[in-house]
Amino acid sequence: MTRSLIVAIGADHGGVLLKNRLAAVLAEAGHQVLDFGTDGPASVDYPDFAQAVCGAITRAEADLGVLVCGTGIGMSIAANRHPAIRCALVHDVTTARLTRAHNDANVIAMGARIIGEEVALDILNAFLTTKYEGGRHDRRIAKLNLESAE
Ligand code: RB5
Repeated sequence: MTRSLIVAIGADHGGVLLKNRLAAVLAEAGHQVLDFGTDGPASVDYPDFAQAVCGAITRAEADLGVLVCGTGIGMSIAANRHPAIRCALVHDVTTARLTRAHNDANVIAMGARIIGEEVALDILNAFLTTKYEGGRHDRRIAKLNLESAE
């Protein structure tokens, strides 16, 4: 896939099966996976898992994060409440590529009830292999900090 990364991953009950598959593929590719669960079908609350993944990235314990819930929406909302997180809800390869290239996204959220496994694997590959382009995007990302809007 790319150089070895530390990838934090988490899901609620709606995303657990896809999360487990993504974690296995990441490990097979030689990446270090920090799997924050959930681990089974019991109903859980997606903000708890977004918090765990985003905390690991904020503390620089992981390079990138992957969140999966039923739609990806709840996870992306929860993740983007963290100041150091730029999370994109992606359901196709093009947006996965462009959010790394232009937004320097450090987390992606996916909806396991929205996309199939093969699409999710292609998204993961695009997210991990695309480089941030920098340049004009640095200025725009700096403006995402609320302090710079005041
Ligand atoms: C759980 O039923 C569902 O609400 C959750 O997985 C997610 O889709 C929320 O955004």
